[in-house]
Amino acid sequence: MNPLERFSTILLVAGLAFFGLAVVAEAVLPWQTLRGIPMQPLDEIAGAAPPDFVDLAERYPESFKKYYGQPDTKAFARALRLGRDVYIAEACWHCHSQFVRPVSNEDRRFGAVSYPGEYQNELQLPQLFGTRRVGPDLIRSSGKHSNDWHVAHFWEPRDVVPSSVMPSFPWFFDPPADASAAPQPNQRGLAIVAFVQWLGSWAEQPDAPLLPLLEPEPAPAAATAGWPGAPAPAPVAGGAAPASVAGTVGGAAGGPGR
Ligand code: HEC
Repeated sequence: MNPLERFSTILLVAGLAFFGLAVVAEAVLPWQTLRGIPMQPLDEIAGAAPPDFVDLAERYPESFKKYYGQPDTKAFARALRLGRDVYIAEACWHCHSQFVRPVSNEDRRFGAVSYPGEYQNELQLPQLFGTRRVGPDLIRSSGKHSNDWHVAHFWEPRDVVPSSVMPSFPWFFDPPADASAAPQPNQRGLAIVAFVQWLGSWAEQPDAPLLPLLEPEPAPAAATAGWPGAPAPAPVAGGAAPASVAGTVGGAAGGPGR
């Protein structure tokens, strides 16, 4: 039999051809498309340390001084880069997107719809669009919460959002010097807060207020028939749902927010 007609030869040739095709489609073409696009460098992004970053220095002076020194632009650039690296390393992207889509009134929920230019910077290489939303989109996070809210939230999400399924990140904190003091955010903790507060700091603020997050009050066992955030509580057999539950879930909060 001619060696070229052997099954193994055909398999080898086809394998090499598909490998070559994959390199062209996944590496050469994207590189060709992207190389002409200017990417904003980190120095330019961190042109001025924003008030949120200065606030971190004032709130956590000891650990800030230890890890970042002064809240200047150099320190801000370092914090942003490390924050981005921590975001990737801790797989925050597994539960959070960074892309507000122009559908389903997402702009009412998260803020202004995303546009291409905001991904043209060094901190979006690789881009962090994410693929799913276990938690809310984060590209409009800037200013939504205060620094101390974020610090408390990374320490234990359920302390601030009781129904949260976000993991706690105790390794973002240094143990306190004495047992009665509160743990202070460490280098990574300060960086991730600075990074989250930076996300969307360039975007326009929405005209209308955003929809509030649903956070139902703890309800008596009989009334918690649905998942948290169900549009309306199931009527309890033999009586109406307590007013506090009906008011929170079906009324003022304005329907499902997630
Ligand atoms: C297992 C999934 C999961 C992971 C991993 C995760 N989160 Fe979350 N996150 C959530 C959920 C769910 C919420 C909504 C409830 C809450 O606020 O805790 C949330 C809320 C948030 C919020 C508040 C958003 C808002 O608009 O109120 C921020 C900020 C945040 N996460 C940042 C992060 C960062 C940074 C990381 C990585 C260090 C991370 N999350 C990892 C699930 C996750």
